[in-house]
Amino acid sequence: MDKLVIEGGVSLKGQVSISGAKNAALPLMAASLLASGKHTFANVPRLRDIRTMQVLLSNMGAVSEQGDRFELDTSDIRTFEAPYELVKTMRASVLVLGPLLARYRKARVSLPGGCAIGARPINLHLRGLQQMGVDIELDHGYVIASASRLRGAVISFDQVTVTGTENLMMAATLADGVTVLQNAAQEPEVVALAEYLNKMGARIEGAGTTEIKIDGVRELTPSDFTVIPDRIETGTYLAAAGITNGHLKLRGCRPDHLDAVIQHLAQAGLAIEAGQDSLEVRRVSKIRSVDVKTRPYPAFPTDMQAQFMALMALGDGVSLITEQIFENRFMHVLELKRLGAEIELEGRTAVVRGVRRLSGAQVMATDLRASASLVLAALAAEGVTEIHRIYHLDRGYETIEKKLAAIGAKVWREKT
Ligand code: EPZ
Repeated sequence: MDKLVIEGGVSLKGQVSISGAKNAALPLMAASLLASGKHTFANVPRLRDIRTMQVLLSNMGAVSEQGDRFELDTSDIRTFEAPYELVKTMRASVLVLGPLLARYRKARVSLPGGCAIGARPINLHLRGLQQMGVDIELDHGYVIASASRLRGAVISFDQVTVTGTENLMMAATLADGVTVLQNAAQEPEVVALAEYLNKMGARIEGAGTTEIKIDGVRELTPSDFTVIPDRIETGTYLAAAGITNGHLKLRGCRPDHLDAVIQHLAQAGLAIEAGQDSLEVRRVSKIRSVDVKTRPYPAFPTDMQAQFMALMALGDGVSLITEQIFENRFMHVLELKRLGAEIELEGRTAVVRGVRRLSGAQVMATDLRASASLVLAALAAEGVTEIHRIYHLDRGYETIEKKLAAIGAKVWREKT
């Protein structure tokens, strides 16, 4: 197990290149199951979760290689299973369910276990598939799914679900007839997936709105695609400039994917200038305490909640941070308090009283974005912080210590 050691107090200055989005690359890789042959992706980040998806697909018979471009050949898929050992390390493995059923009419996928941030069931995925004519059995922790044919259906989600929307959109591309997804997720990653599916020959309209219409076709053809920039990595570095009173230029990003994040950070005292594919950020006042509620895109994303809380820990007043997507996404609170933050939980709201300074300590990462918030707090804290269990961080942030060191941070990785 590695740990990250950070000596805080440095104002970060310089340029950061933003990597491709993990949460865009994973559904694209799953979509390769819909069409036999070689799919090519550019700008795929080098992350633990990407490697996990590679192993999952290669266990089924796919051949992949991550060079300058990511080549994925699904000509010879022989098994249709996502085993517990892999699904328990990465919930996004359930994204193979829709494509396997659409193309091969069968799948055996482990139910994802619980996760640090909440129960995260997949009942909405399964209910939608049943509406499309899929027979679903739950047996020994596995979803056993089969169908003679998939047929179009009108599916209305009780709750906005990102991978639920992606799974059913993929399943519908090869179904008989038209599928309509209502109360669909509008995330940029959903839009990017729809663009790739249409490039492969699918007929999808409305991606990016709450209603997506998919007219099933007979078959799809492999193609190529460039993964969109990671909007959460972008937001994390914007917050890093704010919390260290630095000045950063972020390149290769999509400012239009971060309106709610930029708006809240500007209210918190950051000056942010957007270019076509760049963002320049510096702090122009003390950190101002701002309230935030997480909601589905285009509102403030839950994946930025922990990072925003780290910034608010040094705010000039009181910030109310309400987590409305996941029921247990405050694991970072106790760790931030070890660094000197003053935070009290009241149900789904964290009351963050800004303090004048944080001080370094030993802390433990619990989930991907919680670990990012500990990195941010450590960068601002006086003295040295050691962040343990940083394999969580490696799942979503490409070479984070190299990127941070390049902009002045005193950070290094140690084996424990
Ligand atoms: C995606 O997870 C992201 N992961 C998450 O990012 C992100 O936090 C989340 O969307 C919300 O934006 C990927 O895209 C790979 P949901 P997902 O289905 O799809 C409930 C990260 O840090 N729900 O949108 O699993 C669920 O419990 C990860 O990169 C059901 O009840 O999330 C949650 O409360 C963390 N039944 C809410 O809906 C279902 O069938 C939103 O979940 C599905 C979801």
